Amino acid sequence: MGIEKLIRKDLIAFGGYSAATSPETLDGKIDVATRDIVKLDANENPYGCSPRVQKALARYKQYNIYPDDGQERLRKMLSDYAGIDSKYIVAGSGSNQLIDLLVRLLVAKGDEVINCTPTFGIYSFSTRLCGGTLVEVPRRDDFSIDIGKVKSVITPKTKIIFIANPNNPTATLTGRKDVQALLDTGVPVVVDEAYYEFSQKTVIPLVKKYDNLIVLRTFSKWAGLAGLRVGYGLFPPQIADFILRIKIPYNVNVAALVAVEESLKDVDYLMASVDKIIAERECLFTELKKIKWLKPYPSEANFILCDVLKGNAKKLFQQLQSKGILVRYFDQTRVKNCIRISVGKPEHTDALIKALRQIGGK
Ligand SMILES: Cc1ncc(COP(=O)(O)O)c(C=O)c1O
Repeated sequence: MGIEKLIRKDLIAFGGYSAATSPETLDGKIDVATRDIVKLDANENPYGCSPRVQKALARYKQYNIYPDDGQERLRKMLSDYAGIDSKYIVAGSGSNQLIDLLVRLLVAKGDEVINCTPTFGIYSFSTRLCGGTLVEVPRRDDFSIDIGKVKSVITPKTKIIFIANPNNPTATLTGRKDVQALLDTGVPVVVDEAYYEFSQKTVIPLVKKYDNLIVLRTFSKWAGLAGLRVGYGLFPPQIADFILRIKIPYNVNVAALVAVEESLKDVDYLMASVDKIIAERECLFTELKKIKWLKPYPSEANFILCDVLKGNAKKLFQQLQSKGILVRYFDQTRVKNCIRISVGKPEHTDALIKALRQIGGK
């Protein structure tokens, strides 16, 4: 018997998550050296982490010792930053891990999860992995969520409604009133605020009021720690307790702990980088608008979604990649023939715009 026969039937056709390209995997495949690649495909922070993080990691002496499994110090630090008691907080190896843990905690085979598409891929990834059923509610033409429609698809089997806010890949915000209308249904609502520091809009003040609200945050974007993998979630305390119970032991590594501590001591520095990214986002938007065959959408995050009005988005992605510029392309409903560009430094915008003009003209 081939061992693959033991694989769960519902996972045989599972396609996996299509992650961003790592520059080193292009080594030898394109005529651009890995170090010269302009990486605008994963909404990472082009300014990197705080210099305090670099120094503290070099100084740290206890990489041989496991971290505190209960995350007590980390949760206290996060509690001070988020302004809420640590009993609400759990940290994860990236907020991705917390999405996965929450879905595992709430969603069994046959349960339903509402996804406001197009949106971040991990919600559907984890739901499928748990045998849950995805109920997709397409966003309107302006990418806002039709709250009435979401409410109309709620059934006794609905276990989670996911809202990325700002949404990835559309970079649009859902207002607090709309979030509250969904919370009032009693169904658990996850508001994923991965890009909060760029939008400055949060529903954290509602966490104590609603015992069905979960807010997710990450250090990947604003704090430039994507490679260290650290995020956190605000959960109703009884859910936080269960997430702590079902998580793998020591899920946040000691380097990430050191990095969070130093980042939180250097918030002013990091927010100055966020400000530079926001300013550059506006320059990038202006430049993209000048290109007649692209239609950029306004952004509340650190990336811009663009309709490709002439030509094919996948081909454009490949042409940019061959020039050493990485972006994402989409071909799903509502983002058919779109590319998403992360905001880089001014020189990255210059390189991108030059390449776009070379490929497709003015
Ligand atoms: C909406 C959203 N949530 C979560 C994440 C993942 O963040 P982390 O790096 O903390 O796993 C991303 C990353 O792109 C994202 O776009």
